[in-house]
Amino acid sequence: MTQNIAIFISGRGSNMAALIEAAQDSELDARVALVVSNKPDAAGLEKATAAGIETLVVPSKGKSREAFEQEVERHLIREQIDLICLAGFMRVLSAGFVGRWESKILNIHPSLLPSFPGLHVHEQALSAGVAVSGCSVHWVTAELDSGPIVGQAVVPVSAIESADDLAERIQQAEHPLYAACLRRVLGGKPKTETTDQYLLCVL
Ligand code: GAR
Repeated sequence: MTQNIAIFISGRGSNMAALIEAAQDSELDARVALVVSNKPDAAGLEKATAAGIETLVVPSKGKSREAFEQEVERHLIREQIDLICLAGFMRVLSAGFVGRWESKILNIHPSLLPSFPGLHVHEQALSAGVAVSGCSVHWVTAELDSGPIVGQAVVPVSAIESADDLAERIQQAEHPLYAACLRRVLGGKPKTETTDQYLLCVL
């Protein structure tokens, strides 16, 4: 049966675009049914509309977590969503929501978890002096950035680069990683891939 996917965004939506493309793979019986944004001005919304995908904007500002989630959830149920992919969605979901959607929410985070959860990730990595950083796709649990890992991509760190440069390079690895993890979760093969820029491993 076709798996209906909802993607949650707050900004640019480059990971969302990678997931939309991955879901179009004819070998996968999946479709992105809905893109949800908590920010009315998220640039990703236009990209979703251009790809012919329904969008839903529920501004989170000034709303309680529960009120926001209740409104979103009505649409998720109406669209018969099977899987939620958080893609740069910068709002923490309540334990209640995560519990109701247990094992149905994926997230991408721009570090090699469990290192550097939360915010200011690249600054944390640079000041720790790590030689590698990267990104992780994981299942979402009630504890922030700490659910089971589906896959990671490892990116070498140059000691002299800025946090913005590192963010940019990690983001290039995020797109193939998230696409490969989606394929894995939907029943595809695990993936290992190495380029000059990253080493990508999906469990
Ligand atoms: C990505 O780098 C993603 O890992 C990060 O936000 C960016 C969104 O970019 N997510 C987090 O930091 C979540 N804790 P995008 O909108 O272009 O996909």
